[in-house]
Amino acid sequence: MPKELIAVLDFGGQYSHLITRRVRECEVYSELLPYTAKPQELLDLKAKGVVLSGGPASVYDQGAPKCDPEIFRLGVPVLGICYGLQLMVQLLGGRVKATKRREYGKTQLNISDSSDLFQGINASMTSWMSHGDYADTLPDGFEIIASSENCKTAAIRDSSRRLYGVQFHPEVAHTENGLQIIRNFATGISGCAQTWNPRSIIEATVQQIRSEVGNDEVLCAVSGGVDSTTTAVLAQRAVGDRLTCIFVNHGLLRKEEEKIIQRALKEELKLNLHYVDASQRFLTLLVGVTDPEEKRKIIGEEFIKVFDEERSKMGTFRWLAQGTLYPDVIESAGTGSPASRIKTHHNVGGIPEWSTFRIIEPLKFLYKDEVRKIAQELGVPDAIVKTHPFPGPGLAVRIVGDVTKEKLRICRDASAIVEDVLTRRGLYDSVWQAFAVVGDDMAVGVLGDQRQLGHIVTVRIVKSLDGMTADWARTSPEVLEELSSRISGEVPGVTWVTYAITSKPPSTIEPC
Ligand code: XMP
Repeated sequence: MPKELIAVLDFGGQYSHLITRRVRECEVYSELLPYTAKPQELLDLKAKGVVLSGGPASVYDQGAPKCDPEIFRLGVPVLGICYGLQLMVQLLGGRVKATKRREYGKTQLNISDSSDLFQGINASMTSWMSHGDYADTLPDGFEIIASSENCKTAAIRDSSRRLYGVQFHPEVAHTENGLQIIRNFATGISGCAQTWNPRSIIEATVQQIRSEVGNDEVLCAVSGGVDSTTTAVLAQRAVGDRLTCIFVNHGLLRKEEEKIIQRALKEELKLNLHYVDASQRFLTLLVGVTDPEEKRKIIGEEFIKVFDEERSKMGTFRWLAQGTLYPDVIESAGTGSPASRIKTHHNVGGIPEWSTFRIIEPLKFLYKDEVRKIAQELGVPDAIVKTHPFPGPGLAVRIVGDVTKEKLRICRDASAIVEDVLTRRGLYDSVWQAFAVVGDDMAVGVLGDQRQLGHIVTVRIVKSLDGMTADWARTSPEVLEELSSRISGEVPGVTWVTYAITSKPPSTIEPC
């Protein structure tokens, strides 16, 4: 990938990935590495700057994570953030102490020198602090460049060695000018060029795929989601009609989804698409299955069977393109920190170990928001770029208990209404996911002139940044009213509509 980068060493802080993402927002490539990364590894990667992340430990704890102090002698600028600052101070001969009172939240920062790290920033700004230790005595060569009321050493610097430290978190949104501080470090101090943008990423990725696969044929499983579609379009740019895409309809898609996806992929993106309607196979296998994990397993395994049957009909493919994202790569490599432990799902499309395919993963350096930008640059239609994340096992995880025809119809039609109401009101893009859930709970309602049992449909609308945590959307009573009257009025068999008001945690986003 790019010739130079900012390496972020992960000490287990909850914001470690966020630092990497912020550096990339400044159009500079950045990678998250374990704190144990060797100095030579940083040089091999062409790190022009190193950031030491925050972390939950105290530098005096037994077994506290420590980087190799040689890193400070590489001649490469280093920025320590929170724990990173304290570690730098301790390793270079200064002293770190516990604060009398833990400093937490928004804190006024007074800047005394704005010649480099704080260039272009007013003398006073709000910063976000969260620390119980602070640098009490600085190592030789260091000076203070910003202070807060409770922390004199809120930002420090050794200009000759180009070592910097901030006690606050420039990566979080509550810190004013945080991005500017990161930009100053990445471009001004470390001298990185700002070349990390959708166009250059596309160019580099296409080149990479070309050089990897040569003249071979490539296969790609597409679901109509933004990741698999972007993977396919990048592969198409690289190998043209030597790419074949397979789209399996497992019968658990959203309303009209198979048509929308085929139109987008075939007609708009001109992908060489092989569509397989395997709905009946999946739905038959799911009859009577109530356990959520069992449902996932059946769907995942059947998907692989169908995929394998279809591809063997189409000749030999040496390569398989997959839409693995950067956080998944970090997850499996493991930076050794709690922050990197991202929940993985058994996705439809997971390829078994016995497979003889060689894998290309054009998105493996990218975060989801970067994939969306690239998709837009590649001309992927909004219907795909802006659509909410949809789980691989589809509506099966939104139907509690067994998947019957009746529940599938209700879930599908009610979900379409939820999406329609939010879209018409201009709210669709402001939430992470919005859908309807149906199970076996029934309630009496008046259907026609008669009191009759019907299904309870639960509407779930959540806000989230990455799906790891989520909050239920404080939807207005007018929206709830419209959802309730349309679902109960337009979907036969529904008598009650409820709204889910638990966040994640303790709930999950999907009901099963
Ligand atoms: P949960 O329900 O675990 O969901 O809070 C978090 C995010 O992951 C999606 N999800 C899945 N995606 N296969 C997938 O590809 C699955 O089995 C699966 N289960 C949940 C969910 O839609 C949400 O965005």
